[in-house]
Amino acid sequence: MADLWGGRFQSETAELMKQFNESFSLDKRLWYEDITASIAHVTMLGDQEILTQAESQDLQRELTQLREEIQANPDLLQGDYEDIHSFVEAQMIKRLGDTGKKMHTARSRNDQVTVDMKLYVKRSLKELEAAIKTLIQAFIDKGQTLNCLSPAYTHLQRAQIVPFSYILEAYVAMFERDVQKVNDTIQLLDESPLGAGALAGTTFSINRQQTADLLGFARVQENTLDAVSNRDFILDSLQCFSSLMVHMSRFAEDFIIYSSQEFGFVESSDSYATGSSMMPQKKNPDALELIRGKSGKIIGLMNAMYTIMKGLPLSYNKDMQEDKAIYFEAYDTSLACIQILTGFIQELVVNEDRLNETVHEGYLNATELADYLVKKGLPFRQAHGIVGAAVVYGIDNHKQLHELTLEELQAFSTIIDEDVYQYLEPAEIMKQGIKTQMKPDKF
Ligand code: ARG
Repeated sequence: MADLWGGRFQSETAELMKQFNESFSLDKRLWYEDITASIAHVTMLGDQEILTQAESQDLQRELTQLREEIQANPDLLQGDYEDIHSFVEAQMIKRLGDTGKKMHTARSRNDQVTVDMKLYVKRSLKELEAAIKTLIQAFIDKGQTLNCLSPAYTHLQRAQIVPFSYILEAYVAMFERDVQKVNDTIQLLDESPLGAGALAGTTFSINRQQTADLLGFARVQENTLDAVSNRDFILDSLQCFSSLMVHMSRFAEDFIIYSSQEFGFVESSDSYATGSSMMPQKKNPDALELIRGKSGKIIGLMNAMYTIMKGLPLSYNKDMQEDKAIYFEAYDTSLACIQILTGFIQELVVNEDRLNETVHEGYLNATELADYLVKKGLPFRQAHGIVGAAVVYGIDNHKQLHELTLEELQAFSTIIDEDVYQYLEPAEIMKQGIKTQMKPDKF
């Protein structure tokens, strides 16, 4: 392996150290961004007459050629190289001799690796955003096929009635915020570190605006110390992944519970469940459990990156190389979870009859009864007490509130009338738009 830095050294690097230090096995994934940024760099060097036009054009041509070759055959990304930057430079030297050796003029691997990662993160976050939008659409589509009510919970105790699709809409709202977070992350990172050099710029009269423009960045990142040591965009991305994973994990928890026999609200399709090697009757919600489990891993990766960064002095430190393993792992996992959840929700079977039946139990309409009394003129606290007593009566007599006769209800308050039953009948509560926050048109 030809090191990029051998001159100052008098003896060979230990084999163990080479293996410990290398990042090519991971950062080869940045090949497209590395070559693209190098094309921008040598184009600018030519225009600034730091390289001759002929040298610049030779490099542009060979870099473009290399990019096409790797596109056609990714196996070319092989060999005993320290990192992707060494690999690309070695290819240029092989093809162009001394001209290849000029490619790194007015540049360092420190600004190079940061620009590569920024380009990669930007591109991959856009793909993630598209995947989240597909997931959102799957939730919306599923919700539109449904026409059933559901208990909704606080403290996992039956609380009030909602359309089942309303639960799905809650997750849509969370995923929409995740899309927003991803966009904010892209906006914030959108400045070019290229030209920052190792840490303090360069004596060459480079044109940072030109490389920023060529690479599609919104602006130049001015402070060079900050530019080479900024990994906020990795941290921000990991926060996006963590937020997304927490949302998916909460969904997983809800639907693992809903798919238990005790609840029986939903059933996973066979394609997203697995069985037991011993218990023939089992159908386990493994897809959801894996999402819930992997969310722990992503939060761990985010914590790892924060911990790496928190004590680093300015500016670049090799610790930052760990960002690759962390980002790639977190990204791949998050994307896989989105895709699995999209398939899961598309094929999910919702037991609408069971749900419509179950909302009649558990005094889910108690709050509506209290509201009814308030609308008839009672202060809410008093209404709350009256309904509480009616619930105790119902429990003792094995009756739900809507099963109480008018006489029984009037024993608790004489202002109760025949019209109370529309406040007690779950479907009526929705149909009549009594719940003003929910779209009654579904019922
Ligand atoms: N592989 C390194 C990284 O990922 C590239 C930068 C190396 N720079 C250096 N001065 N050793 O961070």
